[in-house]
Amino acid sequence: MTDIDRKALSQSASLYKRALEVLPGGVSRNTVFRQPHPIYADFAQGCRVTDIEGVNRIDFANNMASLIHGHAHPAIVDAVSEQLRKGTAYALATEVEIRYAEELRKRNAGFEKLRFVNSGTEAVMCGLKAARAFTGRAKIAKVEGSYHGQYDYAEVSQTAAPDSWGNLEHPASVPVVRGTPPSVLADVVVIPFNDPKRAMAILDENSRDLACVLLDLMPHRVGLNPADREFVETLREWTAENDTLLVLDEVITFRSEFAGLQANYGVTPDLTALGKIVGGGFPVGAIAGRKDVMDVMNPLADELLFSHSGTFSANPVTMTAGLVAMQLYDEAAIARLNALANKAREGINNAIRATGITACVTGYGSMFRVHLKESPPKNYRELFMSAVEARLLNVLVNYLFEQGLMTFDTCTAVLSTPMGESEIERLVNGLEKGFTKVIAQTDRQ
Ligand SMILES: Cc1ncc(COP(=O)(O)O)c(C=O)c1O
Repeated sequence: MTDIDRKALSQSASLYKRALEVLPGGVSRNTVFRQPHPIYADFAQGCRVTDIEGVNRIDFANNMASLIHGHAHPAIVDAVSEQLRKGTAYALATEVEIRYAEELRKRNAGFEKLRFVNSGTEAVMCGLKAARAFTGRAKIAKVEGSYHGQYDYAEVSQTAAPDSWGNLEHPASVPVVRGTPPSVLADVVVIPFNDPKRAMAILDENSRDLACVLLDLMPHRVGLNPADREFVETLREWTAENDTLLVLDEVITFRSEFAGLQANYGVTPDLTALGKIVGGGFPVGAIAGRKDVMDVMNPLADELLFSHSGTFSANPVTMTAGLVAMQLYDEAAIARLNALANKAREGINNAIRATGITACVTGYGSMFRVHLKESPPKNYRELFMSAVEARLLNVLVNYLFEQGLMTFDTCTAVLSTPMGESEIERLVNGLEKGFTKVIAQTDRQ
């Protein structure tokens, strides 16, 4: 270890010591927690992040898929700087929120009306509350294992495990947080992913009580496999027939196509939750969809069914950044990035074959996930990792990190527009070497 390394190490270690005094576990979100201490960012530009130790990494995490143009894109920085000088938040409406809503509606005709909020969690929460207000029903249905943020109802079953998940005909409503009210669990109906027959049987039992079915078309925590067309079409038909709404969570998947991943299914949901990239790097969420449903929030209505507000909703800084980011993320940019990701998937498959590792890659558009499994897990139960699998995946992700390649801790990678073929090559080569490490560890088990 050089003197510079030692000094840098002590910088991180001493920051973490201070952090432990004021933040639980020394972090503000568990995502950035690492042993022996989190890595502290210094600055970032394009697709690269430099930490306070001066180590530069290619950023395939993109703040958990929320940065589509990487870091500090000049056009976003300019537009936001201009807005900052004009003020950051007012108890008045702004023109930019209208322009941004118009821009998003141009991308997807199903976004008849929109409301902006501050996170994906809040967008999903508003979608569920709007569905309840519209239908007058309390229950919601969701896919087992699917992550939709931290709203009590939306998070149910997200961390289900073999000892708690029950049988597949009736997956249990498993709480994430201790003390979750039993009434919350009773009002969440859990269905298996990509299993229309079982899902329909479960939904039929609750048909009179369901306000909506909440669905992510490519749920990351269920394996990052796109939903089968039959599953989506069946859910759309069932919800329409049973006066239940279909709420799509496109917080992550909106990046996949110009109008969101829903464009690939020819299915129009009643509501869509958005977040992540639509904030242009700033905290954001949005709920969009059918005018009559969105009008539950309309203060001009004879009866206001869902009084919705939020101090920082449609914040002008976020609106400005989001508008520029989405204008730049046009059809050509999406096609280029998706093609780059196809190259990556192809390269990873070649690396799997070349090394002989038991692994596969899933994903669509500009996201992909590497699994240390022979074939893509079909649902949450197949995805569920043994302790050994989890440890080996950790070996792979840590190796990539040491090689200057930052991914999610699930070995998911997302692309950003500053990336080109050289970044993909680096990732594929890193994975190939990482696979060899994993094989060596497996042999030692
Ligand atoms: C599909 C999906 N929905 C909702 C959320 C919650 O978004 P946020 O973290 O902005 O609250 C996430 C976050 O990762 C997500 O992936």
